[in-house]
Amino acid sequence: MNETLEKLGQYGIVPVVVLNDSKDAEPLADALCEGGLACAEVTFRTEAAAESIKIMSEKHPEMLVGAGTVLTVEQVDEAVAAGAKFIVSPGLNSEVVKYCLDKNIAITPGVVTPSEMELAIELGLNIVKFFPAEPSGGLSMIKAVSAPYTMLKFMPTGGINPGNVKEYLKSDKIFACGGSWMVKGDLVDAGDFDKIKELTKEAADIVKEIRG
Ligand code: 3PG
Repeated sequence: MNETLEKLGQYGIVPVVVLNDSKDAEPLADALCEGGLACAEVTFRTEAAAESIKIMSEKHPEMLVGAGTVLTVEQVDEAVAAGAKFIVSPGLNSEVVKYCLDKNIAITPGVVTPSEMELAIELGLNIVKFFPAEPSGGLSMIKAVSAPYTMLKFMPTGGINPGNVKEYLKSDKIFACGGSWMVKGDLVDAGDFDKIKELTKEAADIVKEIRG
């Protein structure tokens, strides 16, 4: 397995971050690291994404910062130039996946259907995002498709919360779970980084409880 993804899997939960202002990047990274999850998927949904990745990576070199919602190869370049160590996309774009693999950049594209999973396997991937997880059948869907696709492990994202994350983490088909519950936009906008740290610690504790 790609070394970067292996490290990401060890965190078990990957905070999915949407930052509207890069001034929040440093205190957010502080809160995540102090809370025990030194990783983040910073989504390319805002103008502040690339600058935020740069700040988080520079202030916390130990942190595994990646880019999410990456839809084009141009965004891959922008994200990697900013310091992103991994790329996440909501769907499977073969061009983006091949571009990353050619450059040895870790990528987890989103899949839902068996056909998309076969395409991921054909492209040489064994870790995929399962998105949007809960609306797409959640853990029972992942278990069902794992019968034929034994080589795949999943990063479910979308609708994961402290109430259901434990069941996901108990499954050996789950590589890590993505979620935004500990880094909600209203907490970031309010500058409530203490609360973010507290929720992050709770999430990190869940991973310890389930995975040891
Ligand atoms: C997203 O699309 O923002 C991610 O899938 C996070 O989903 P969540 O907010 O349901 O955790």
